[in-house]
Amino acid sequence: MRTPFLVLTAALLAVSVTHPAAAQVGSGNSPDAATERGLEQYRRMLKDDPWSNPGLLDADRGEALWKTARGPKNATLEACDLGKGPGVVDGAFAELPRYFADADRVQDVETRIVWCMEKLQGLTRAEALKPPYPSGGQPVGDAGAIATFIASKSHGKTFAAKLDHAKEKEAFALGETLFFRRQGPMDFACATCHADSGKRIRLQELPFLSRPEEAKKVIGEWPAYRVSSTHVMTMTHRIYDCFWQMRLPRVEYGSDVTIALTSYLVQKAAGGEITAPAIKR
Ligand code: HEC
Repeated sequence: MRTPFLVLTAALLAVSVTHPAAAQVGSGNSPDAATERGLEQYRRMLKDDPWSNPGLLDADRGEALWKTARGPKNATLEACDLGKGPGVVDGAFAELPRYFADADRVQDVETRIVWCMEKLQGLTRAEALKPPYPSGGQPVGDAGAIATFIASKSHGKTFAAKLDHAKEKEAFALGETLFFRRQGPMDFACATCHADSGKRIRLQELPFLSRPEEAKKVIGEWPAYRVSSTHVMTMTHRIYDCFWQMRLPRVEYGSDVTIALTSYLVQKAAGGEITAPAIKR
């Protein structure tokens, strides 16, 4: 009599594993609504116990990558200058993007990491970027994991990027222009979705990103662990995803466009707390 019982148990387990929503279907709700409720509960549980955040594993991976000798030059990234001197990680993220004389360019955390991977380790840009925009379920790339580590080392600090250098001012101005510029087949600007309070698409609330009070609440959360795609997403990836929603061509990782928009968002969030890696929907 044991075998049928085991078979039945196994079958029930298989059902509950492959269809987490199945138990709720009988209650008259759609499986989608039940799945969404289950996800909501999962998100709550993750937030209730900050140490359960899977993004912390990527921060750890990033730290190991930072300290591991790699590439043709067999070097670690520990001599990388993130703006506060070679190897200084603590608090560096809070002051980015900034102008770097050696690169003669304004760089955000991701662009700077890729630059150091190329210059210090001798990796090619393609190797350093692999993959720039991982699809759902795929872990964030090496540069993104390192960015998660660097951002986590500014946890609790507030955004304080400067706008002293002419190129810093230029990046901010370009970001502001791009934020409000309508373009593409849908004639959308970032502002179409992010320049008003209380807007939403389906159930997603759309933060009013050009308004400091709202920008301060969310910009410091990135890079963030995104439950719905089960991986860490960086700010560049977040911007890429919104460009996709605008039906614009795939934006180049670390281009002047992503750096300028990041610069604009970080300035709007000036004084806002850094809580990365946070948990997003
Ligand atoms: C068609 C509407 C739409 C446009 C246009 C749009 N976004 Fe978004 N954006 C969204 C949605 C929807 C989300 C929330 C996605 C999610 O929760 O997964 C979002 C989220 C974000 C976030 C994260 C906010 C948070 O809560 O942490 C940032 C930052 C962002 N967008 C920036 C931009 C920028 C910069 C542009 C212009 C290049 C832009 N968006 C254009 C729809 C849009």
